Amino acid sequence: MKLATRAVHAGQHPEPVTGAIMTPIFQTATFAQDAIAQHKGYEYARTQNPTREILEANLASLEGGAHGHAFASGLAAVTGLAMLMEAGDHLVCTSNLYGGTYRLLTTILAGFGLRATFVDTSDLGAVEEAIEGRTRLVFVESPTNPILTLTDLGAIAGLAKEHGIWSCVDNTFMSPIFQRPLEHGIDIVLHSTTKYLNGHSDVVGGVIITDDDSLSERLAHVQNTAGAVPSPFDSWLVLRGVKTLHLRMQAHDSHGRRIAEFLDADSRVGRVYYPGLVDHPQHRLAEEQMDGFGGMISFALDGFDAAERFVAALRVFTLAESLGGVESLVCHPGAMTHASVPEEERIALGIVPGLIRLSVGIEDVEDLIEDLDKALSAT
Ligand SMILES: Cc1ncc(COP(=O)(O)O)c(C=O)c1O
Repeated sequence: MKLATRAVHAGQHPEPVTGAIMTPIFQTATFAQDAIAQHKGYEYARTQNPTREILEANLASLEGGAHGHAFASGLAAVTGLAMLMEAGDHLVCTSNLYGGTYRLLTTILAGFGLRATFVDTSDLGAVEEAIEGRTRLVFVESPTNPILTLTDLGAIAGLAKEHGIWSCVDNTFMSPIFQRPLEHGIDIVLHSTTKYLNGHSDVVGGVIITDDDSLSERLAHVQNTAGAVPSPFDSWLVLRGVKTLHLRMQAHDSHGRRIAEFLDADSRVGRVYYPGLVDHPQHRLAEEQMDGFGGMISFALDGFDAAERFVAALRVFTLAESLGGVESLVCHPGAMTHASVPEEERIALGIVPGLIRLSVGIEDVEDLIEDLDKALSAT
């Protein structure tokens, strides 16, 4: 079945007792057992919950994977992945990772003995050079947040296999509608479901998807043992959001293209980062490995003061962290999402004081362009 059909139906069936079309919210902590150690597949809601299971099956289907494991946040999913490793193990990560993932790796996981090397994963040679004896995982974000640099997923998957290590892609920015890393040979896909998958900015959640049975067993052990699972209600909200994922992504993408072109043509704007622009250095790769370019755009204004004036003048875009909701958001990565990345590293990555990131929503695109146009006049 095609993606749109799977978004609406995968993993779901009318509830057997009443025929309810929508998956019930099984808001229960525990389940009655028929006799000692005889149950219906559900013992305790940290271990299994029917609403969460249906969400996991739905998201696994969209990514083309056999197994999904939902977590309480995107970062809980990254932490869950890290729990598959041991002290002394090593990861090779994209240098321009989401700031929270960077902070998790450098300020918490490092204390448990996990070592991470950050490299430009669009440079395959740099990735290969960083792999060492205890490397267990290559962790990639493509496109990156907020500079939208791409990594060749097929090449990374091949390199990881050659070295007998796992590859993982944080696919939050693209969603499975535009990019399905498992199809490129990647072992593990991770999402912050907070973003496009839920799409309505009313949930914090995460998920890990894989085809690998033994990895899946270990992830289920982590879910149950470490316990950072989403609530039944949050699972249900994401499941409901996913039903319109394909339609929302089409709107984010077509609005994103229009707005990137508008910004690119405007002399008040510096460099524009958007993989859909023909002058994006990896536009060709974007066309090859993605089915759309999405709604995330970054661009440079002339310094922090201009950025501050721009943001203050916006009326439709809201200044807020996060992305991927139906509403348009604006953020200043240097002071907000990437504040935990040291300034020197931020500048080297292109996160300059005038950098602005847009999460383009699904409002009327003319209204969005008018809002940006007026705010640019204030810079
Ligand atoms: C690309 C990416 N990955 C992971 C995360 C972390 O997800 P969460 O905020 O759900 O913990 C974020 C959050 O912004 C993100 O943008």
